[in-house]
Amino acid sequence: MSDLDQLVASAEADFAAAAEPAKLEDAKARYLGKDGSLTALLKGLGKLPVEERKSAGAAINQAKVSIESALTARREALKTAQLEAQLATEALDVTLPGRGLPRGSLHPVTISLDRIEQLFRSIGFDVADGPEIETDWHNFTALNTPENHPARSMHDTFYLLGSDGKLQEEVLLRTHTSPVQIRAMLAHTDRHRDAATMPELRIICPGRVYRVDSDATHSPMFHQVEGLWVGEKVSFADLKGVVADFLRRFFESDDLKVRFRPSFFPFTEPSAEIDVAFMSGALEGRWLEIAGCGMVHPNVLRFGGFDPEKYTGFAFGMGPDRLTMLRYGINDLRLFFEGDLRFLSQFR
Ligand code: DAH
Repeated sequence: MSDLDQLVASAEADFAAAAEPAKLEDAKARYLGKDGSLTALLKGLGKLPVEERKSAGAAINQAKVSIESALTARREALKTAQLEAQLATEALDVTLPGRGLPRGSLHPVTISLDRIEQLFRSIGFDVADGPEIETDWHNFTALNTPENHPARSMHDTFYLLGSDGKLQEEVLLRTHTSPVQIRAMLAHTDRHRDAATMPELRIICPGRVYRVDSDATHSPMFHQVEGLWVGEKVSFADLKGVVADFLRRFFESDDLKVRFRPSFFPFTEPSAEIDVAFMSGALEGRWLEIAGCGMVHPNVLRFGGFDPEKYTGFAFGMGPDRLTMLRYGINDLRLFFEGDLRFLSQFR
């Protein structure tokens, strides 16, 4: 056997012995690489006498072709073997049942909002709606909070930029659901303008509100539920009865304590803060603030088209996020907004 034939035979043997692609490429380098033995022969051609160069070159090239084709064949063989091994281990059982789409669930705050709506509907309230991008007039002025009124600084308001990049002082993200009181009153008094006696207006308005605020107990977007009842003889006693009854039904707790603490809101007079205390559980005996309320201020009734000499009303605004945290014992508001399924799937 000539030296070249031997070289080819040894390359073929090395390739056959390579059991995986990386080993095969190592073997290839020993023959065809920069310092490979066949490459060395090709480089040595120049030193041969001219008469021998041609035939020697042809022979070396012949050997190179043989080695390359052995290499290609081995590469293919390894690839096929790998695929077969993979197919053998990853067998597809078409008779297995499908994985299916997991059933979703309602967000805990949505569950609360549904529940609040259901409880208020059961005592004759309608559910009203209003825009989240609100005018300064509806959000503040008509709620008896004129410009420069100190109560405006109680809310850290998000204002909007116009297309000219300038601050739009008249348009904002509503800081509370109270502007819906104005919208509902105006629609109601307009609709019944010609009636001798105005029918009662009884609404709640659940929705998103926005303030520049963010920590474990504050989110820049949160929820409120506004309530409003206007009629001829609506009193503070009605307010206490409606709210206390609602809270006991919401928390399914007959011995829940409810307290009305004097407070201030520009749109109500008198105004109160509503606190609850549970008689059992982790929060037993602690007073927790959950809403603001009061008798609708005469100026607000007037802005809504009601005659304050003839009609009275009460209003309240509560935080359903807070109510949900209390009902389920959740201690960090941010859990509501993170979309973590480990949290959310507990409310199926
Ligand atoms: N709008 C108030 C707030 O966001 C909450 C509130 C208080 C609403 C008293 C009312 C009310 O309707 O009567 O802080």
